[in-house]
Amino acid sequence: MLKQEDINLLRNKEIKPQKLFIGSKDIPSKSGKMLDVSSPIDGKVFTAIANADENDVDLAVTVARQSFEKGSWSKASPQEKKKILNKFADLIEENALELAVLGVRDNGTEINMAIMAEPMSTAGCIRYYAETIDKIYGEIAPTQNSILGLIHREPIGVIGAIIPWNFPLMIGSWKFAPALAAGNSIIIKAAENASLSLLRLAELAIEAGIPEGVFNVITGEGEIAGKALAMHMDVDVIAFTGSGAVGRKILEYASLSNLKRVYLELGGKSPNIVFADTPDIDAAVTQSLGGIFRNSGQVCVAGSRLIIEESIAEEFTEKLITQSKDLVVGDPLDLSSNLGAVSSQDQLVKNLNYVEKAVNDGANLRVGGKQINKETGGFYMEPTIFSNVSNDMKIAQDEVFGPVLSVIKCKDEVDAIKIANDTVYGLAAAVWTSDLSKAHRMVKSIRAGVVHVNCYGGADITVPLGGVKQSGNGHDRSLHALEKYTDLKTAWISL
Ligand code: NAI
Ligand code: MG
Repeated sequence: MLKQEDINLLRNKEIKPQKLFIGSKDIPSKSGKMLDVSSPIDGKVFTAIANADENDVDLAVTVARQSFEKGSWSKASPQEKKKILNKFADLIEENALELAVLGVRDNGTEINMAIMAEPMSTAGCIRYYAETIDKIYGEIAPTQNSILGLIHREPIGVIGAIIPWNFPLMIGSWKFAPALAAGNSIIIKAAENASLSLLRLAELAIEAGIPEGVFNVITGEGEIAGKALAMHMDVDVIAFTGSGAVGRKILEYASLSNLKRVYLELGGKSPNIVFADTPDIDAAVTQSLGGIFRNSGQVCVAGSRLIIEESIAEEFTEKLITQSKDLVVGDPLDLSSNLGAVSSQDQLVKNLNYVEKAVNDGANLRVGGKQINKETGGFYMEPTIFSNVSNDMKIAQDEVFGPVLSVIKCKDEVDAIKIANDTVYGLAAAVWTSDLSKAHRMVKSIRAGVVHVNCYGGADITVPLGGVKQSGNGHDRSLHALEKYTDLKTAWISL
């Protein structure tokens, strides 16, 4: 159980200006340049991170490559790797509150959610992949009798992971845990406004016994450090989560450099479809609310378009509005807050601009829409619901990444599918119905990586997460994620 007094002991702890984490140690950036880190809780600067450039990235890649070639991790025994990764998970759990509070000071996620979604799920993710190490086999091909065809699965080498700010540890672990389990070395580029918990995590990785140079974290500006990593000639893979605009650039960097593999997870505009025959309207209301407002809507799978059958649209919207007013928006380190701060001033301004545009486009602002708690100096926004949204409006097409829900009416199943798929994105979706056949038809018809039925969210490490269309490619989570960080090699042996 989280206790407020334990959180309070950590909330104002002094954080020294941070260095880069390369080759198992803290080292300053070569240029000495730093970036201020301010908290969305109160808008105040509370520490600084190193602003890495090409030279620092080059050092990290060199060190990571050397560690891979040396084999201290890539060729370690499965038992050894498994033991170390499990120890890493133990240490994360032991330091969970410290990691969570550090992250919240950086990105504003409410602590109740942060503790589960960040350290705890990260530890779980690491354990999951640790368990795969001694359970995944190679293959023997069904060749002619005079040949033995062996298919080996090998680590690739140096993996670059470019991580966003909403869930740095969890999204980070979705990439580094399978990458490490497969035997690679990794360089994580943390987001400008969510680096602190990943830097602390790196120390725990070393404490657990991950050998020197295998787990590196660099910080700094995306357009400098992130670009340098994605442009580097000796990085084999970039695994990215973030905006579509940056995803496009990373594909370009790969083509301009060494044709490295690129995996992109680019968010969405996920439809949450509620039919009149939903088995439990109140459950649908509560989960739809969580589906969009959790972490102030800063969730890649957020159900930001509620597509609702006409006959229940008004009743459902009223219930949503009523419940949304009960959500407490406030200090994310206060256990009684339901929603914390929006991650940055830029993101808040982006959200408010979308609200203004939606009003101008004729959407009906039913609740919220404003910045609140301004006296704190932090970035807080009311849960916001628009009805009378048509799917061609900007508010229904763009990923806002804030606490903003668009309610769109549909006539029937066919209409719902048409609206749901009328988007460039395809990450998540949900369907609420009592009709089993309809539910299955919808799952087949909606173009998305995950379709929830009679729930929203909650999918775990055992199932893949990945997008179709402009939501990206490749999958985080589940055994399938290992495919991103391994290569197949054939041994064709004449007998
Ligand atoms: P972003 O896409 O700019 O940042 C994500 C990561 O990419 C950060 O580590 C950043 O430093 C890095 N980066 C930025 N420019 C880069 C470049 N040229 N080369 C290599 N790396 C680069 O996301 P941002 O600006 O923080 O948020 C903007 C929007 O992106 C949000 O409003 C939201 O719509 C979307 N987003 C989606 C996320 C998801 O979970 N799918 C997570 C974060 C943002
Ligand atoms: Mg950006």
